[in-house]
Amino acid sequence: MKIVLLGYMSSGKSSVGKLLARQLQYRFIDLDQYISEQTQMSISNIFAKKGELFFRKLEHKCLKEVLNHSKDDQIIIALGGGTPCYYNNMDIINEKDDVTSIYLKVNIENLFNRLWREKENRPLIAHYSDKEGLEEFIRKHLFERQFYYLQAKHNIEVSELNIEEVAETIQMKINQ
Ligand code: S3P
Repeated sequence: MKIVLLGYMSSGKSSVGKLLARQLQYRFIDLDQYISEQTQMSISNIFAKKGELFFRKLEHKCLKEVLNHSKDDQIIIALGGGTPCYYNNMDIINEKDDVTSIYLKVNIENLFNRLWREKENRPLIAHYSDKEGLEEFIRKHLFERQFYYLQAKHNIEVSELNIEEVAETIQMKINQ
């Protein structure tokens, strides 16, 4: 089985993915890290030097590669926040029988608090210097993206959960 974790920036995809991979003894792939390794560039640098369109094309190509890893069946993949929303990425994920997609849903207030502290390495929001501007951006952006996120097979409200509790909830969902 492959487990795909998706959700907005800072929803915990990578930290939960790493923990769950340890618990289930699966391999963990962080799609952003995979892209960085392929290009030998940080995500911020790719956005700055090559532009977002280049990044989205590369993200689409890398997603297909990691989903088609046939030698390694048991993988947890943490997507980037925007991955589900471009090309037919959600269809590619959902049409595979061996893939389970999980949306980690966080409320606006928690997203804002986390992202205000961690915006520097995130090219889409790094330029926000006022709190109101960032909050407004997150609100609209999440509203647009939710359409794609909600196509995940499972949808988990994780705002009030710690990483261990999220991992436990995922294990319950996939064993149902
Ligand atoms: C993005 C989220 C980032 C990264 C890139 C674009 C997005 O990943 O892929 O900066 O469009 O939301 P995280 O969700 O891991 O921050």
